Amino acid sequence: MEILGIDIGGSGIKGAPVNVKMGELAVERHRIETPQPSTPEAVADVVAEIVQHFNWEGPMGCTFPAVIKKGVVCTAANVDKSWQGTNGEALIQEKTGNPVLLLNDADAAGIAEMAFGAGKGQDGVVIMHTFGTGIGSAIFIDGQLLPNTEFGHLEIRGQEAEHRASARNRTDEGLKWKTWAWRVNEFLSRMDGLFWPDLFIIGGGISRKHEKFLDLLDTRAEIVPAQMLNQAGIIGAAIAAGKHFKVED
Ligand code: BGC
Repeated sequence: MEILGIDIGGSGIKGAPVNVKMGELAVERHRIETPQPSTPEAVADVVAEIVQHFNWEGPMGCTFPAVIKKGVVCTAANVDKSWQGTNGEALIQEKTGNPVLLLNDADAAGIAEMAFGAGKGQDGVVIMHTFGTGIGSAIFIDGQLLPNTEFGHLEIRGQEAEHRASARNRTDEGLKWKTWAWRVNEFLSRMDGLFWPDLFIIGGGISRKHEKFLDLLDTRAEIVPAQMLNQAGIIGAAIAAGKHFKVED
């Protein structure tokens, strides 16, 4: 069974039909730059363009980098502030004519990793973090997601964690891998002390370069890189939509 997955990010909006049984993209993904300013209307138009590109008619899942409650975008840390309070699900539904599930980006990436990647078969407490423009979090207990956790905003040394240890901090501040890893480790150690997870999964685009920093990370819990790289959001969105709309295999 195929379901369309779309990943809305700060720099790009990417999508592809996903074979949700295999956890794979069915065809090559299509990517369009995120419009600036990234207002709800402008972003939803780009999502509709991707839907058209695949001539997609049917259920679809869509990620968004914010807290999402029943389709409504509740926060806007790294996106245009006009999203806050917008029913993104209804808007995208209206623009595309398809049934849409909107969910948090890190939750979607975590769902994909738990089903087909680094968290496959892992019970106990698993925490996935995505390191990009911000820091996303997804917490699983025996494979069950606790949605909309926002630990990138945890305060560390008087600053939000995602303002110290995101992938953007590394590039913007020109941090050495060692310095950045030290900040990430401080954040993970805090999470470790609060949740006592069995496993941390490190995701986001930077997980592609994990050999540069993974050995520098050390917490009580095991730490592994994500396996699904930049496809995790698309695949997780499609899996979640399949469950939500009760699509049969
Ligand atoms: C947002 C989260 C999001 C994370 C990663 C944070 O700024 O508050 O909702 O998951 O960035 O994109």
